[in-house]
Formats: sequence, C-alpha cells, structure tokens
Amino acid sequence: MPNPPKSVSVRVPGKINLHLGIGGVRPDGYHELVTVFHAVDLVDEVVATRAAPGAGLSLRVLDAELRADEQGSALTGVPADHRNLAWQAAALVARHAGVPADARLELCKRIPVAGGMAGGSADAAGALLACARLWQLPFDLPTLTDLAAQIGSDVAFPLLGGTAVGTGRGEVLSPVPSPAPLHWVLAVSPTGLSTSAVYAELDRLRASGAAPAPLGPPDALLVALAAGGSHDIAANLGNDLQVAAVSMAPQLADTLASGLRLGALAGVVSGSGPTCAFLCADAASASAVAAGLAAGGSCRAAAAVRGSAAGAQVLPC
Ligand code: C5P
Repeated sequence: MPNPPKSVSVRVPGKINLHLGIGGVRPDGYHELVTVFHAVDLVDEVVATRAAPGAGLSLRVLDAELRADEQGSALTGVPADHRNLAWQAAALVARHAGVPADARLELCKRIPVAGGMAGGSADAAGALLACARLWQLPFDLPTLTDLAAQIGSDVAFPLLGGTAVGTGRGEVLSPVPSPAPLHWVLAVSPTGLSTSAVYAELDRLRASGAAPAPLGPPDALLVALAAGGSHDIAANLGNDLQVAAVSMAPQLADTLASGLRLGALAGVVSGSGPTCAFLCADAASASAVAAGLAAGGSCRAAAAVRGSAAGAQVLPC
C-alpha cells in the first residue's frame, strides 16, 4: 500500500431542485418525495488531515474569504463540533471500518448556509470521501452512498453530482443524462430557513386547504432535460415547498418577481429555500440578472453559476 496521505481535499457541489414534489408523511416522520436534483458549480471544500493517534476529531469552519470560525457559529452559522454533518460523516466512516476516528477536518464554505442548497449535506459527502481516502479504506461509491443515506436525505446526491431523480425521502437516486450547460443565477437571502420548519409549514398549509395541488411526476421536465432546450426546462420547473418558504419569508415573492423582470426564463425556490434559482437563456443574460438582483437589494447576494456540475472530487495534492 502506498504511503498514507497527510491530508486529502475534496471539492463538493451545492444542488438546486429542478422539481420537488412532496407527498404524504411516512411512518418515520419524513415526507415521501420525487425530486430532480441538479448540481451547480458553487462548491464547498472539505479537507481531512491526519491527527495523532487518540486525538479524535476536530473541525474548523472557514467562510468563503477563508476567515476561520473556531468556536462554531458566529461567522458562518455552522457548528464546529459533533452537531455538524461532516463530523458525523467522519465518525460514521471510522465506525463502519473499525478504525480510530483521528482527523482534523476543515470546511471552506461557499454554499449558502441553511439556504436550501444542501450545503451541510455536501460537506458530509465531502467528509465521507476525504476520510475514506485519508484512512486508506477501500470504500467504493455504493458503500459511500449507503453511508451517506444514514446521515441525511440529501447527502448521497453530492457524491454523484450531475442531474438525478431522487425518490424515497430523497436518498434513492437515478442519474439522468445531464443537458448542455445551463446558466443559473442564485439569489441568496440574508437569513436561512430551517428545512423541518418549511416542511411543517407545508403540512399546515395543506391541512388548511391553502396550498396548491401537489405537483405531478416530473415527466415533462425529464423530456425537456433530455432535449436540452432552456425554454422547455424553464417551463417545467416546480417546487411544492415554495408556497411554504414564501409563507415564512414573504420577501421571496419580490425576489422571484425581480429575477423574471430582469430577464430570467423562470425562477424557483431551491429545496426548502430561501435561495432562489433563476434559469437564464445564456451566460450574458445570467450576468445581467445577477447584477440586477445584487443591485436591487431584495437579496443578500446574487451569483451566476452553471449546472450540471461534477460530484465530489478529490483534488490533486
Ligand atoms: O434528512 P434531513 O436531516 O436532511 O432532513 C431534515 C428535515 O427535513 C427532517 O428532519 C424533516 O423534518 C424534513 N424532511 C422531510 N421529508 C424528507 C426530507 C426532509 O420531512 N423527505
């Protein structure tokens, strides 16, 4: 076996949901869903570094400007301890392999925190891969995706990347051919939304008859994705959680309207929000929509990104 690496860096993408159809509540409390995940090139970086035997796990969280958040949450809103999904992923890899969980983890966060882009799940996916490589474990992709599903509903997808249909509670994945690059603008909100609170709000709206009819299956979207035309893809974006996210954060209605006014083909809340994703006809339109949204003040920041992006990748040393 080659010398063990001192450290392993993994780049892992954020996701948006092109379709998110939410069904009923299951006996385990989760909602049955059908979604189309789409990875975008807004990435976090996860670094796992060797630690002395018996040192255990430690975690440092850096924001996009590489400012450290040693204590946990003041800067990024992300806990730097066992509550972090990346920490839980490292512990699970060690337990599964029967090796000591000795490693220093570092997360460099660019994916918005509590933004509906599965940033915490992406970090967990990155930590699974980084620790498996650091500890020289012969884990293949199916093993990693099994472990991912034990951590959270959205953890398996960032390992795969691309575009994929997710069923079950989101963890059962079937890749679909990714179309030609799509041009998106992400509008990031000043504050986050709790995923479980947004699901609960949808249940409340449905119980009171205030939610629209649930989305049907994403057949038309899948046909449009296979053909690759942005206008047809735009016409078939949909998210059952959007009504709940807008109910909890009404300013999102302004953000969605602004993106359309600025020339986006369509806009949709990503996952449980509050990040909004706008599909644009081309790169020039995406730059203009991002600049207009950033200047307009209805969101904290706006960035042009592309999809679909690759799944978790180990970076060369
Ligand atoms: O699986 P994960 O921990 O990411 O889910 C966060 C929360 O989102 C769950 O605790 C649950 O409240 C809600 N959820 C759900 N149904 C799903 C996925 C998530 O109700 N399919």
